[in-house]
Amino acid sequence: MKVLLIGSGGREHALAWKISASPLLTKLYCAPGNPGIAQFAELVDLDTDNHQTVIDFTLSHQIDLVVVGPEAPLVAGITDILKKAGIRVFGPSKAAAQLEGSKGFTKDLCARYNIPTGAYGRFNNAPKAKAYTRAQSLPIVIKADGLAAGKGVVIATTAEEAADAIDACFEGAFGQAGSEVVVEEFLHGEEASFFCLSDGKTALAFGSAQDHKRVGDGDTGPNTGGMGAYSPAPIMDEAMTQRVMQELIEPTLKGMNEIAAPFSGVLFLGLMINEKGPQLIEYNTRFGDPECQVLLSRLKSDVLPILVACADGKLDQCTVEFSDDTALTVVMAAEGYPASPKKGTVIKNLANAESKPDVKIFHAGTALKDGDLIANGGRVLNITATGQNVTEAHDKAYQALKAIDWPEGFYRSDIGWRAIALEKSNL
Ligand code: AMP
Ligand code: GLY
Repeated sequence: MKVLLIGSGGREHALAWKISASPLLTKLYCAPGNPGIAQFAELVDLDTDNHQTVIDFTLSHQIDLVVVGPEAPLVAGITDILKKAGIRVFGPSKAAAQLEGSKGFTKDLCARYNIPTGAYGRFNNAPKAKAYTRAQSLPIVIKADGLAAGKGVVIATTAEEAADAIDACFEGAFGQAGSEVVVEEFLHGEEASFFCLSDGKTALAFGSAQDHKRVGDGDTGPNTGGMGAYSPAPIMDEAMTQRVMQELIEPTLKGMNEIAAPFSGVLFLGLMINEKGPQLIEYNTRFGDPECQVLLSRLKSDVLPILVACADGKLDQCTVEFSDDTALTVVMAAEGYPASPKKGTVIKNLANAESKPDVKIFHAGTALKDGDLIANGGRVLNITATGQNVTEAHDKAYQALKAIDWPEGFYRSDIGWRAIALEKSNL
């Protein structure tokens, strides 16, 4: 089977690693990929925004499956166009990707189907958004409706901050994505990520993780795409998983079917868990990054037939098996991330770091220049380890990380703190 993977992050490196381990695979291509992915795939320099070039490549290379990693091409409708050309794709249609592409769309769906989430209002002008906000209690959450690369959310603790965030959206800070604003109740509790595959009919739980969104230790500083993660999330036990499947995922899939936008692909739930149970913060319609790295590090099943079954509407014939071990990943980012990461600095000694037991390093923003591996983005490396518990995986990942020679890189030193504290208290 020939596969084309679209994307270039740590998520796609993990996908390439797993797909290439499948006995069903004959050839893997990745567009555009990165130097880590190049160990497993032939990199192709396709402009993936130009859907016709993707179709031409796919047809001329007789690709059997296209796997779309990031959200932007999904929200832009790449799967619809490929499917129309007769190409099998893993990923939701443009209509179904609205679950990620429009926060207002998702909130309306939640309201219609009684899916637990915070109270909200949708606005297309600042005065109305501010008037609604003034009538709510603080803190309050202001969100740009569309895709904003994780930067479109402000948790405002004062009315002025809320008003500034609303103005920023309508003044174009997030382009088109901010032309509508969702104002949302602040939810207290513990955050978790949960993943579920669906072909529109069947839902298959695909594991849980906990991300660390803030850039600094102790959950301080600005939000990022994610500075580290571990899987599974202890809070997502069997009973909580059942509740999430029944109270959130089933009505969502039913609702999407009823509007003729069946969801096919991976549904990624950002959850807040509190005394009321699981509450939806947001949906994403692709794997999380870095959550995918830890999920796939625990996956025992062959991933390729599962992706194919999902695309073919045959997920009812699939089972999925994960290791009971924990996987933990620490993101190394370039100095200046998330505001203005410094590019071009040289990274050394990765092979040594990766030779440690149970350690794998996934590349994100890396490039090769004159034979050197250099930083070429914000989040650059994912140092991932497995162990019997979070403490063990944490120790192995940080041990390996110390072997990396990259003075201009930084990382959070407390990935897994919550679960490690729990493990200590259970000793
Ligand atoms: P999002 O981009 O929607 O994932 O939001 C980024 C982060 O903001 C989430 O991971 C949460 O930590 C936080 N957040 C978003 N919405 C809420 C909410 N309604 N209540 C509390 N925290 C939230
Ligand atoms: N790590 C969060 C995300 O992928 O959206």
